[in-house]
Amino acid sequence: MKRRLAQALSKVHARIHAYEERERAPQLGALGQGSVVANPNFFLHPERLFVGAKTYVHPYCRLECITENPHLEGPPLEGNARIEIGDRVVINSFTHIGAMRRIVLGNDVGIASGVCIEDHHYIYEDATDERPLKKQGFRVADVIIEDGCMIGEHAVILPGVTIGRNSWVGANAVVTQDVPPYSIAAGIPAKVIRRMDPATGEWRRAQA
Ligand SMILES: CC(C)(COP(=O)(O)OP(=O)(O)OC[C@H]1O[C@@H](n2cnc3c(N)ncnc32)[C@H](O)[C@@H]1OP(=O)(O)O)[C@@H](O)C(=O)NCCC(=O)NCCS
Repeated sequence: MKRRLAQALSKVHARIHAYEERERAPQLGALGQGSVVANPNFFLHPERLFVGAKTYVHPYCRLECITENPHLEGPPLEGNARIEIGDRVVINSFTHIGAMRRIVLGNDVGIASGVCIEDHHYIYEDATDERPLKKQGFRVADVIIEDGCMIGEHAVILPGVTIGRNSWVGANAVVTQDVPPYSIAAGIPAKVIRRMDPATGEWRRAQA
């Protein structure tokens, strides 16, 4: 009896907490049923952040849709940045997602703590260009993390990368290239260390 009461109270408490967090969340582009974007978080253009249902964003994340940046004094930006987060996604604290064009997290994606996902980086191609990097402009390319992926602690996902369905990125990896579906990628730069054979469900070590 006592246990049931405790369970019921705990459910009520969780609902009140979720309600309070929703009330305190900034005006997002979308916030699906049952989702919580906890406080405090740092947002740039929260109206460009679209969150599905039953998703939980832990506190102390930095979620930026960068449409203009007067501090950089560089060339004008595209101005259409957006972040799309699917259903049942969990994003742990100290994660930084920075979009200048489009970053997509599919459904059921797990993001561990301190992960960095960016769809842009400074162009740094001409060594004779003496301007500071921040004035040389950006290379921008969508980042897509497909359904069911797990991104390990402190991993970094770079512009243009697609991480295929149900793949796992190891802790501290720096992902510079696409990761195929049903794979485990680790290291700097990240390399596929195992792939699952979808026909048999068996993991196979990637060839060196
Ligand atoms: C990537 C990971 C999933 C691999 O797990 P695994 O399949 O059990 O891999 P193994 O331990 O068998 O290691 C396989 C090889 O990859 C290497 N490796 C494993 N994890 C690595 C990592 N994070 N970075 C670099 N290399 C890694 C191992 O050293 C080993 O190398 P070897 O074949 O030369 O000996 C796991 O190590 C990892 O990083 N998990 C993330 C944990 C995390 O962040 N959890 C938070 C969740 S909220």
